[in-house]
Amino acid sequence: MGEVEISGSKNAVLPIMAAALLAEGKCEIMDVPELRDVAVMCDLLRSLGSTVSEDYEKSVVTIETKQISTNEAPYDLVKKMRASILIMGPLLAKTGYAKVPLPGGCTIGARPIDLHIKGFRTMGAEIIEGNGYVEAKAEKLVGCNVYLDSPSVGATENIMMAAVLAEGTTVIENVAKEPEIVDLANFLNKMGARIKGAGTDSIKIEGVEALSSAKHAVIPDRIETGTFMVAAAITKGNILIRNVVPDHVKSLTAKLKECGVVIAFSDDGMIVRGDINPITATDIKTLPHPGFPTDMQSQFMALLTVAEGQSTVIETVFENRFMHVKELNRMGANIKEEGNRATVPGGRTLHGAQVVATDLRAGAALVLAGMVADGTTEVSRIFHVERGYSHFVEKFRNLGAAILRIED
Ligand code: UD1
Repeated sequence: MGEVEISGSKNAVLPIMAAALLAEGKCEIMDVPELRDVAVMCDLLRSLGSTVSEDYEKSVVTIETKQISTNEAPYDLVKKMRASILIMGPLLAKTGYAKVPLPGGCTIGARPIDLHIKGFRTMGAEIIEGNGYVEAKAEKLVGCNVYLDSPSVGATENIMMAAVLAEGTTVIENVAKEPEIVDLANFLNKMGARIKGAGTDSIKIEGVEALSSAKHAVIPDRIETGTFMVAAAITKGNILIRNVVPDHVKSLTAKLKECGVVIAFSDDGMIVRGDINPITATDIKTLPHPGFPTDMQSQFMALLTVAEGQSTVIETVFENRFMHVKELNRMGANIKEEGNRATVPGGRTLHGAQVVATDLRAGAALVLAGMVADGTTEVSRIFHVERGYSHFVEKFRNLGAAILRIED
């Protein structure tokens, strides 16, 4: 049985690092994954005047911001990562002004920031939307009630980070309930914030005067966990996954069990066995947490191409998240795409091919497909995968995969 250790969560650590801007004093963040996105966030914080140290041997990043030297985020960093927008709430709360270019990141849809802006505006900020950037100004943010039209993860985080220093109480409703929201709230509360309700539909934040430094260990990455769970299923393997929070991967566990995968928990972690039963088809529909995560849709689709029977995959979170379909079809999948629905015939024999990682999770899906394909698969633009998976190639090689990173 192979073993793999899950790293800290990318989507938890990025907002937590942005939140460290709010502290008076040095924050120590532990269980930080070694990722390109984390390195970009470190550079972004440095560009604003923070002193940041990165020790990936120990998985620790420390952040201290004695003085914010500029409230404007540089475009060459923001364009590399959409999560850069998360500095907006802390900057606005701490200094009363933020200017952020419109972010880059994965090209999986329009990904507007209207809900972030709605939150800041409701708290009293003046918003200027310029050509390719957005500015927010407020002498002092004021607590208010904000209702999100949809439960955006980033908007929930940004508004929460802005509200911690606002005057009075803010209530955000119809918020995202992802575990990463809870982790961010826990970190902010350690710094002295007063946040209640994270993980439910409504979050209440009582503003405080100032926040102090804090030490925090990031939760394990549930999408990395899910990717290894699917890897065990697709390769008919038997693996032990360490550092898992079972509650965070419930929807995925349920779906994999439906497909015939045997999943058990021990003191050491989660055992995933794809070698006991045949893998059968199932239907999935992505939803905000606790529904099936959009970040696992492409990897799961790779699995369904080789499952017995026909499956349907419906993507409801992003409008353009089937870019892996074309690539999987180049490997012999024969998936039919219609709007936000994909029909996956199943039972296919995949063949090695030259394919392109169009975004982070699509890249992971192609690597999984390559593991069961005949012959060799070459996945290009692999930097997308390295944005969000720590030691991806090494971890898979340790599990027995014949995988090699070719420098270019
Ligand atoms: C976060 C995750 C990303 C994940 C996504 C959904 C991070 C760093 N990234 O991204 O991996 O795929 O959640 O689980 O945590 N939307 C609006 N207006 C807004 C904001 C969002 O319409 O102001 C829409 C988006 O276009 C998208 C949907 O809401 O269709 C979900 O986006 P959101 O939850 O905000 O995702 P991110 O925070 O960008």
